[in-house]
Amino acid sequence: MRVGILGSGLMGGKLGTLFARAGHEVVFSYARSEEKLKRLASAAQGKARAGTPAEAARDADALLLAVHWSRVGEVLKQAGDVSGKVIVTCSLPMNADNTELVVAHTSSGAEALAEMAPKARVVCAFNTIPSEVLFGVFEAKGKAAAPSLLYCGDDRTGKRVAAELIRDVGFDPVDAGPLRNARYTEPFAMLVAHLAYGGKKGPEVAYRFEWWGK
Ligand SMILES: NC(=O)c1ccc[n+]([C@@H]2O[C@H](COP(=O)([O-])OP(=O)(O)OC[C@H]3O[C@@H](n4cnc5c(N)ncnc54)[C@H](OP(=O)(O)O)[C@@H]3O)[C@@H](O)[C@H]2O)c1
Repeated sequence: MRVGILGSGLMGGKLGTLFARAGHEVVFSYARSEEKLKRLASAAQGKARAGTPAEAARDADALLLAVHWSRVGEVLKQAGDVSGKVIVTCSLPMNADNTELVVAHTSSGAEALAEMAPKARVVCAFNTIPSEVLFGVFEAKGKAAAPSLLYCGDDRTGKRVAAELIRDVGFDPVDAGPLRNARYTEPFAMLVAHLAYGGKKGPEVAYRFEWWGK
């Protein structure tokens, strides 16, 4: 798959690297320096390159949106036409100091994104785990029980693509239903962040749902 990374920071940089290691063709875009994008691409140990958001979006089978909420409008503008594109968003609708969700309860960041890009196939995923656990989960792939990862969306193709990427990183994708259920997964992501950064055990935390007796 060709995967464009929109926002190559903690989440985008690591997920893009793991997508490349899993065999996908990755374009890293949107960081404050092109040097950083090139460094990420050459360290990815796979098919990866640096580009602009427009280059990342062109020919992409999937786009990962991984920017601060305040940058979503700008990065989408730079990406250009995303009609028909699968956009997997891990971006949480946070305020400037990352303490509160600014969209919640009656809507969600993922639904707001779908309104901003109405012709894209928006899926909400990778938002409920801290970046610090990603490499560990990838390394444990096939050796330990996979942790769960919630994803939700309204588009069947988008969800299939997201589930594949989730599996490639080493998680067990858990279909959380329609995009409106991001109203529940986004606050859950805040809880996971609290456990990761507010607890004593450190940020390498993942979770697993079990259907008892199944
Ligand atoms: N970090 C986590 O564990 C985590 C977990 C779940 C969800 N999330 C959500 O995922 C999203 C991304 O989080 P993150 O932690 O990956 O953020 P981040 O590390 O700050 O990455 C954001 C990316 O956007 C780039 N950027 C910011 N301003 C820019 C500008 N003016 N011009 C060009 N590039 C710019 C940054 O560039 P530089 O690389 O140059 O800084 C960076 O590559 C957020 O919405 C967050 O709420 C994060």
